[in-house]
Amino acid sequence: MDLIEPVSCSVDVEAGELRGGSGRYRKMLRELAGLYADEDAFARALAHFVDQPVYEVTDLRPSIANGDVITGVTRMLPGKIGDEYFLTRGHIHAIADRSEIYYGHAGEGVMLLESPAGEIRTLPLGPRDIAYVPPFWIHRTANVGSTELVFLFVYPADAGQDYGIIERSGGMRSRIVDDGRGGWELRDNASYVRRSKADIDAVEASCH
Ligand code: F6R
Ligand code: ZN
Repeated sequence: MDLIEPVSCSVDVEAGELRGGSGRYRKMLRELAGLYADEDAFARALAHFVDQPVYEVTDLRPSIANGDVITGVTRMLPGKIGDEYFLTRGHIHAIADRSEIYYGHAGEGVMLLESPAGEIRTLPLGPRDIAYVPPFWIHRTANVGSTELVFLFVYPADAGQDYGIIERSGGMRSRIVDDGRGGWELRDNASYVRRSKADIDAVEASCH
């Protein structure tokens, strides 16, 4: 039996970080090309966000063994590309039946979920909201507020992330846009291509 040492971490909500974790990565806007509908607005925004990560993840990954968990904190800047709110890249878990819990700490977020067949759901992700990502749901998060969005997540360590599922379908089926009244609404993504039966079957096969 290989024992892992128990460890305590804490969430620094102000800094939007997990203190005492083991890893960190940053996503710059230039790494998110193709996510947003308005390419001209994206090109203009690149100049404003050259040095600043759009989102940053600090996490604790004790191992990637089946049965272990990965815990982390994501901090996202507020902002829009055209009328579309800042987004995480989004993914389905590489082993697609692995679920996940998000817990909001600060700011105003919305989780956008899509089933392999293209059904859309949204969940609020503000302070003390728990968003449950069930098995097989593609998920990404938007910061729909005017301050930083900070949330915690926990998921099985063997889950992995498949980002290609969103790229292959031309994005998710809906976009999260400004409703013109200070809130948000869903808009159909004109570039969306439905998944074939073979693609949907491949999602299910990822778990066997
Ligand atoms: C892990 C998970 C979150 C996200 C993070 C960044 O499965 O859902 O930890 O990884 O919020 O988003 P992505 O990974 O979509 O860039
Ligand atoms: Zn995930």
